[in-house]
Amino acid sequence: MSEMTSQGGTTTYGDWVTGAGQIPSANAPVLQAIGAQVSAELKTSHQYLAMAAFCELRKFPGAAQWLRHQSLEERQHALRLLDFVLARNAAVELEAMPTPVVEFEDLGDVFAAALTQEQQTTAQINDLYKLAFASGAFAEMAELHWFLTEQVEEERTARQWVARFQLVANDPGALLDLDRALGARTSST
Ligand SMILES: [Fe+2]
Ligand SMILES: [Fe+2]
Repeated sequence: MSEMTSQGGTTTYGDWVTGAGQIPSANAPVLQAIGAQVSAELKTSHQYLAMAAFCELRKFPGAAQWLRHQSLEERQHALRLLDFVLARNAAVELEAMPTPVVEFEDLGDVFAAALTQEQQTTAQINDLYKLAFASGAFAEMAELHWFLTEQVEEERTARQWVARFQLVANDPGALLDLDRALGARTSST
């Protein structure tokens, strides 16, 4: 690795590749925080996948399919943020995944947990936007703007399903209808 070391002996191969130091210093903490959100989105993806497996095992394939698509959508969010931070010439440190919650009372409980999760994500994005705003990180604000808008939609959708599950309670026929409606989702966007 010595050939990659600068004459002063202080530039590592990693720095040489990333061009670290060329990043405007005011934006570095913002990019680091956005980099941490990559792992947060992956954790969310992981949790949705666990929810999908829970529903599949209890013979609700529609809910399972909806949650699988949601898991993929969260992964796409993670990749979008990863690509953004890399495009800004900063490194991303991926974190280890925690074990997701795998036990729920019922389907309604799954979607209530999904709504809580989306509300937590909204709070995370809000904090990122606040940081970007305070730092005058304009390109980062523009990128996060997409996520602010996305979270409005994510919360709205989750809230609708929670309300519907509350409405049908434990009526078997109505639950199967809801499962069928959830199964109509065909994409992860
Ligand atoms: Fe997300
Ligand atoms: Fe989401």
